[in-house]
Amino acid sequence: MIKAIVYKSNTGHTMEYAKMLSKKLDIPYFTINEAKNNLKNKEEIVYLGWVCATKISGLGKVRKKYDIKCCIAVGLYPEDKNYIKNIKDSNKLEDTLFYLRGGLDYTKLKGIKKKLLLMVSNEMEKENKPENKELIEIFKNGANFVAEENLEPILKFINKE
Ligand SMILES: Cc1cc2nc3c(=O)[nH]c(=O)nc-3n(C[C@H](O)[C@H](O)[C@H](O)COP(=O)(O)O)c2cc1C
Repeated sequence: MIKAIVYKSNTGHTMEYAKMLSKKLDIPYFTINEAKNNLKNKEEIVYLGWVCATKISGLGKVRKKYDIKCCIAVGLYPEDKNYIKNIKDSNKLEDTLFYLRGGLDYTKLKGIKKKLLLMVSNEMEKENKPENKELIEIFKNGANFVAEENLEPILKFINKE
């Protein structure tokens, strides 16, 4: 039985999804640190982590400690088969991976992470490839894709288990 949602968020989008899932499944949601005091080793969880350079942050730590029934990556890029495969390979994931689009909020980004993102954004703008039109716009203005209906396939999967 899934005991809790565990998550790692940098600017809040992953936390929003964790909160929504917690409400839908009627189980608590914890940051990785909070989970230490609230969960036992090997207990079943749903894990959500924000994507940083194709890595699902926090996953390494969490997979050693808990039994992840469902792993969810929260990123900015549009969902695409090759991109999801890339995330799965980067994170050595063989089981089902769910992907949710989070968002970009410059007001909450700081330090090196903000610099890195601005570098990617500048590069993309310079290249100006037609296939990157949407992303160039997002990098310029920010975006928020968090929506409850995005959780539907995940809820179906969990309720079937
Ligand atoms: C340094 C950095 C690297 C990122 N790398 C990726 C990436 O490889 N793929 C992706 O889809 N999004 C990437 N993003 C975007 C975040 O995953 C996205 O903004 C996400 O919604 C953040 O979730 P949070 O608000 O819970 O922190 C990156 C963001 C930052 C700051």
